[in-house]
Amino acid sequence: MTETTTSQHIELTDQERDAGLNLQQLKELVGLVDYDAAKDPFPVTGWDAIVFIVGNATQAAHYYQSVWGMELIAYSGPENGNRDHKAFVLKSGSIKFVLKGAVSPDSPLIAHHAKHGDGVVDIGLEVPDVDRCIAQARRAGATVLEEPHVIEDEFGKVRLASIATYGETRHTLVQLEVDGVRYAGPHVPGYVPRTSGYVKREGAPKRLFQALDHVVGNVELGKMDDWVAFYNKVMGFVNMAEFVGDDIATDYSALMSKVVANGNHRVKFPLNEPAIAKKRSQIDEYLDFYAGPGAQHLALATNDILDTVDRLRAEGVEFLDTPDAYYEDDELRARIGEVRVPVEELQKRKILVDRDEDGYLLQIFTKPLGDRPTVFFEIIERHGSLGFGKGNFKALFESIEREQDKRGNL
Ligand SMILES: [Fe+2]
Repeated sequence: MTETTTSQHIELTDQERDAGLNLQQLKELVGLVDYDAAKDPFPVTGWDAIVFIVGNATQAAHYYQSVWGMELIAYSGPENGNRDHKAFVLKSGSIKFVLKGAVSPDSPLIAHHAKHGDGVVDIGLEVPDVDRCIAQARRAGATVLEEPHVIEDEFGKVRLASIATYGETRHTLVQLEVDGVRYAGPHVPGYVPRTSGYVKREGAPKRLFQALDHVVGNVELGKMDDWVAFYNKVMGFVNMAEFVGDDIATDYSALMSKVVANGNHRVKFPLNEPAIAKKRSQIDEYLDFYAGPGAQHLALATNDILDTVDRLRAEGVEFLDTPDAYYEDDELRARIGEVRVPVEELQKRKILVDRDEDGYLLQIFTKPLGDRPTVFFEIIERHGSLGFGKGNFKALFESIEREQDKRGNL
């Protein structure tokens, strides 16, 4: 695969266009780069939807609207012929979440939820040619869970297939243009358009995040390189950055992390594995409580992290704490240099800063979203940096460990 900086041009996805985003904003928000899809054996346009299985989708849909500012756009459930489960499609900017909860006592979602708790079951990707991707996946030895097939309703046709990734997580590949006609429905066939009676608070912004930046996978000890190879060989992803061993070790726990990205960098997958240390790392805790590998965190991109964090806090979202020492450390201050707001504004909100040769980023992490210490969110505001906050890992992990210790899992 080749990457060029000037000769190739990427286009906005429909979701991005609908969200009113432009290419410049996306380069800033998620580090989008130009690349030549024609030479890619497994071209990926960008994210489709992130699918969660939850214990109560009806209530979770309300939470994502009222707290996270998302908008309900589509639904599937008993009222439109899906007797197995309810599924709510929520949107914020260019990204969609699908929340699924079992209705039938015989639903296969029940066993999944009993084992894993609330979590991400499917990281959906939009691709221009499902058959080309599946042919490549098969050549490279991937497990094809669903062969390419067309589904349709009154809004048109979509071609789909699924491949397995780590744990019981899958990638559904979604081709929205079939026979030259683009699907016109709000999600995929089987879902009906649906809006909500929920009314945003007065003065609330249009949305709290505009795009999805990356999804992190936690895999077992010794398996990180296998999954990096999977994304390299099966999906043609490139290696972005690499952090190994001591880089992200605290006194007690350690992990290793490598990052792969699709050609245009819209889709970025950091992959973590635990490393041997004095005590059990946060990755071990995740693997125990998720009962295996899975998606650890989703990074939500915003262009105003201060406002987003203030509004989320006002709704009761809990973030990881950062010690004041983090902001008062001379070395850190010198490394950060000039950022768009005074460091005091970041300190007040416990927002972290990291800088590399390309620029800087601001980030903060929530506590786990559900009952188990598994999936959580990151809020990220990029200013040129294409990194993931490597310089913050130590300060951050010490904070995670204090929470882990409170749960008796350190
Ligand atoms: Fe992250």
